[in-house]
Parts: sequence; C-alpha cells; structure tokens
Amino acid sequence: MVKLAVVGAGGLVGKRVVSILDKNPIPGLELYLTGHSKSVGTKVEYRGQTLRITKTDSKLLRKADIVLLCTPTQASIELVSLINGGPVVIDTSSAFRMEAGVPLVVPEVNGHEVFFHKGLVSGPNCSTIQLVMSLYPIHEEFGLSRVHVSTYQSVSGAGYRAMDELEKGSFEQITAGSYGSREDSGFPHPIAFNLIPQIDGFDSEGYTREEMKMVNETRKILGIPDLAISCTCVRVPVFIGHSEACLVETQKQPCIETIRERLNKFPGVVVMDDPPHQVYPTPLQCQDTDEVYVGRLRRDLSSNNGVLYWLVADNLRRGAATNACNIVRALVGERR
Ligand SMILES: NC(=O)c1ccc[n+]([C@@H]2O[C@H](COP(=O)([O-])OP(=O)(O)OC[C@H]3O[C@@H](n4cnc5c(N)ncnc54)[C@H](OP(=O)(O)O)[C@@H]3O)[C@@H](O)[C@H]2O)c1
Repeated sequence: MVKLAVVGAGGLVGKRVVSILDKNPIPGLELYLTGHSKSVGTKVEYRGQTLRITKTDSKLLRKADIVLLCTPTQASIELVSLINGGPVVIDTSSAFRMEAGVPLVVPEVNGHEVFFHKGLVSGPNCSTIQLVMSLYPIHEEFGLSRVHVSTYQSVSGAGYRAMDELEKGSFEQITAGSYGSREDSGFPHPIAFNLIPQIDGFDSEGYTREEMKMVNETRKILGIPDLAISCTCVRVPVFIGHSEACLVETQKQPCIETIRERLNKFPGVVVMDDPPHQVYPTPLQCQDTDEVYVGRLRRDLSSNNGVLYWLVADNLRRGAATNACNIVRALVGERR
C-alpha cells in the first residue's frame, strides 16, 4: 500500500489529479486529500468512496509515502521545509524547478531522472511540458539548433480566480458594456475580450518570468544548457488550453514527413494536421484530454533548416496533473 497525499486537492490541478487517478488508478494507492481554506470539508468521490478534503497538517503529511503539492509557489516552499526529510515530494509549482539536484521531469522525455531524486521532484511549467514533448522527437532525429515560441495561454494557467475573472468580465462587457470590478486574478489588464502580452513580472532584459521559465526549464529537461531559445508569452481569453506557435531550426536538414512520423509515434503526442480540411488543434478540442496535439507542420520559408508548427494541450491535465500522476506512477514503480 502506498499513501499519496494530494495537497491543494480542491484547486484546478488538484481536482484533475484525483479525477485522473479515479479513471486510471494506481494499484495499491491510498489517497489523502488536503487543502487550505475554501476547499476544506469538501467531499470528493474517488473509486466508489467519498473522501473529504481536510486542513493541511504537516504532521499528517509526514506519514505519507508521497506528497503531491498542487499549491501556489509560496505554500510549496513552506510545506517542503515543514516535511523535509519525510516522504518524497512532487511539486507542481515553480519553487524548486531550477534547483540543482532537483529533477525536473516530463516522464516521456527524461523519466529516468525521477530515480535520482533526493526527496523532491519538480513538475515543469505547463507551457514547457507541451513544448518539450514536441521538441524531443525532433531533437532525437535532427538535433535542435534554435527554437522560437510564441504562446497563447489560457486563464486557467493562473488558477481558479483567473477563470472567475474571465467569466464575470465577459458577462459584464456583454450585459453592461463595461468592465466592472476585477476579481483578485493578478492580471495587469482586463482579460475578457483582450490579450495581455505579460505573464508574471519583467526582468532587466524585457523578458517576463514566464518566458524565462520556458527558456531555462526547456534547457534543463532536454539537457541542452546552451540551446538557443526565446519566447513571447501572451495570456488570451480562453478558459482551458495553451497554444504555441513554434519555429524550430535543426542541425541536420529536416524532413517534414519524418518529423510527422516521429511526433505521431511519440507517447502522448498526436498529430492533427490536415489544413485543407480545417484539421488542426484548437484549445476547445483539446480540453479534458491528456495528449499534446501538433498541427500546421510546414517548412520555414526564411531558413534552410527551419520547421514551423502549432501546438495545443490542456494545461491543467497534460500541463500539470497528468504529468504529476505519471511521476507518481514512476515513483511507485520504483518502490515495487
Ligand atoms: N493551472 C495550471 O495550468 C498549472 C500548470 C502547471 C503548474 N501549475 C502549478 O500548480 C499549482 C496549483 O495551481 P492551480 O492552478 O491548481 O491553483 P489553484 O486553482 O489556485 O489551487 C491552489 C490550491 O492550493 C491550495 N492551497 C493554497 N495555499 C495552501 C497552503 N498553504 N496549504 C495547503 N493548500 C494550499 C488551495 O486550497 P483551498 O482551495 O482550500 O484554499 C487551492 O485548492 C501552482 O503552483 C501552479 O503554478 C498550474
């Protein structure tokens, strides 16, 4: 029996973790659900049982074998220091991703690194996960030399308050013609009927922290510390599903058909690419799924070794919960 504590079980990511484990269970797993305030006391159906979300208590967490943190960054930092040295911790926040000695894992790409943990494993940023799952098969075949990405990130990437703001803001714009009071979403501008080319704060070079997360995490996961990569991250008024427009340059001359085949064979990636019949992925189609979808694959007209494509995934599932559950599966396998 393996005891798994899911902290933040009532949040957007935590709820999906429970739902994924409910539909695709890990044999011998005993689940404990904890929260902070809003979700405490909530009943959750899991494998025919009714579980209740309890207040997070570090003494109880220390009794688990694995603790999965689906909590904001500051809460993860505090919880890791409280349960340090006890159970193995999987953290979905950005708190420890770039720390030396902490594996940053997308199981399909660098799953072997799970086994080198020193008590803590990090899950990457949602936009990074879908990007590296598309880059890795291309890298294996042709070698990456340069990557440029523009993201179109849904509001659920910023937690449930951000979803509330999009819903209420859209309603107010349509019914009253104006944007009323904004929820505590943290967006610097109204998001309904808008685009915001800023996710998180700016650095001295003019990049946002979200953009630099994608740069640094991609290099760490792929094990290419000097990969030439730059990003522009944009928040869009979509509830669920992050999209990315990618330009990838390779060391060897790329072949679009080979890339299509390699992507299609890669676990967790689906090629959805038939533009004459309007077949390409969109966030609505990809919602509530676990795959990364690639479309609009084409040769870059401005360089010899460039390839362009469009990439979409459900940020809450593939970009966080599915990846975290796959890390749990790898760890449980390790224990058997
Ligand atoms: N959303 C995404 O697409 C995505 C993708 C990748 C990674 N992540 C990361 O995943 C984490 C969770 O994101 P989310 O979108 O699920 O956020 P969320 O919807 O805002 O949920 C956060 C949850 O954390 C709980 N919580 C807050 N402080 C806590 C504390 N001190 N102790 C225990 N529980 C606490 C809250 O409990 P109550 O409800 O009881 O207050 C809430 O259920 C974040 O670090 C985020 O950056 C998110």
